[in-house]
Amino acid sequence: SKAKMIIDQSFKISEINPRIYGSFIEQLGRAVYGGIYEPGHASADENNFRQDVIQLVKELQVPIIRYPGGNMVSAYNWEDGVGPKESRPKRLDLAWNSLETNEVGTNEFVSWAKKVNAEVMMAVNLGTRGIDAARSLLEYCNHPGGTYWSDLRREHGFRDPHNIKVWCLGNEMDGPWQIGMKTAYEYGRLAAETGKAMKLVDPSIELVSCGSSGSGMPTFPEWEAETLEHTYEVADYISLHQYYGNRDNDTANYLANTLDMDNFIKTVIATCDYMKAKKRSKKTINLSFDEWNVWFHSNDQDKTIEPWSVAPPLLEDIYTFEDALLVGSMLNTLLKHSDRVKMACMAQLVNVIAPIMTETGGGIWKQTIFYPYYYTSVYGRGTALHSIVDSPKYDSKDFTDVPYLDQAVVFNEENEELVIFAVNRSTEEQLIVDIDIRSFEGYQLVEQVVLAHEDPKAVNTIEKERVKPRNVNDSSIQNGTLTAVLSKLSWNMIRLK
Ligand code: AHR
Repeated sequence: SKAKMIIDQSFKISEINPRIYGSFIEQLGRAVYGGIYEPGHASADENNFRQDVIQLVKELQVPIIRYPGGNMVSAYNWEDGVGPKESRPKRLDLAWNSLETNEVGTNEFVSWAKKVNAEVMMAVNLGTRGIDAARSLLEYCNHPGGTYWSDLRREHGFRDPHNIKVWCLGNEMDGPWQIGMKTAYEYGRLAAETGKAMKLVDPSIELVSCGSSGSGMPTFPEWEAETLEHTYEVADYISLHQYYGNRDNDTANYLANTLDMDNFIKTVIATCDYMKAKKRSKKTINLSFDEWNVWFHSNDQDKTIEPWSVAPPLLEDIYTFEDALLVGSMLNTLLKHSDRVKMACMAQLVNVIAPIMTETGGGIWKQTIFYPYYYTSVYGRGTALHSIVDSPKYDSKDFTDVPYLDQAVVFNEENEELVIFAVNRSTEEQLIVDIDIRSFEGYQLVEQVVLAHEDPKAVNTIEKERVKPRNVNDSSIQNGTLTAVLSKLSWNMIRLK
């Protein structure tokens, strides 16, 4: 089948904030212990960080990483994770039914983030704690010195402040699974007062107010409206979280989930702007999509894990080829909303629902989803362009009028490079796309990278990389039209210069 697109230099959506390629490391499962940190590992550096992991994270060019949770943060005492390691307490992690040794805490994570060239997005505990713990953690991290908490940081060996800019006011506080779950009113008030105190400690920080834990929550979007009533003045962003899974083994329906994601984003924007009008405010709240991914493969296995173990193999989804297609589409959706989505975090980064997997004491490998994340992060920098699309469509169980073609376009003015990210959702047929690129006179094809596999359920393992990108010569340019051939069920990056 055939589709058409028009791309024009002047159809600008927005400059892309690189922070949309962020990720997330939670003190959960083997993300930290056996993931980024492993004393005695063959690749461990002087701080016990695995250098094989550092190298792959650097490859992904992840600009910002959320920490330490997630659900874990809602019962976390940050003080447990600083100071001499031998005196750090072991604690029950109630969120994940595990044992937290606290061998890694704030300072270690900040040091690791520096090594991978990422800034830290720090979450504070608004489940079991509140204003006091949040303002002391911020003072510990960002105040130069001469106060109780900042001097303690210096005593702990960190003379210079960490200068962490982005702070999350709690995590998923609408969720019944959350320790210290709150009603919208309770959360809104606590977040507003905590944020106020935090901005008094350091006015340069940016704050994220908790949105709904997903578009399927019964309180969505009333939660956004009611909490913003309280946090609008103090917050800079509102968070969105969303995970998808192909539980019914229905590929066409599964790949259409980005229509839900798109709708979710639009509704949150509308709610923020409704509140802006209601408050007669000049300020615009932006979106931080700080948890997104596929998550479902490991659900059953997780029920069999021994309680109170240290670093159990939790949430270790092994991703299929079709998961990589959805991840590619989710990235496209973020790009198409880059005028309002200014931060996003793929959840998560290592071992826990992650693009990077390790064996504790062993090697490292890339999951299928590594690839769309890698290419979009590396080449999706510059200005997002709106494109006019005419694609054949299909209906699925939960969605109608799903375009076979899913796409995002990025113009990197600095490198004079045009990049098209495209997914063909069809399980049956290739898609030939005629793209009007007349405003990019003289641009030539540099490469077309394709991720495709005949088996939608193909996975990678440490032994065998079955799903990996390859270069093809399937596209051509003639008279200002780029004709792109997208094989059935494929993710593509077409780069022109
Ligand atoms: O990323 C895994 C979990 O998903 C996080 O801890 C929580 O915030 C969300 O429910």
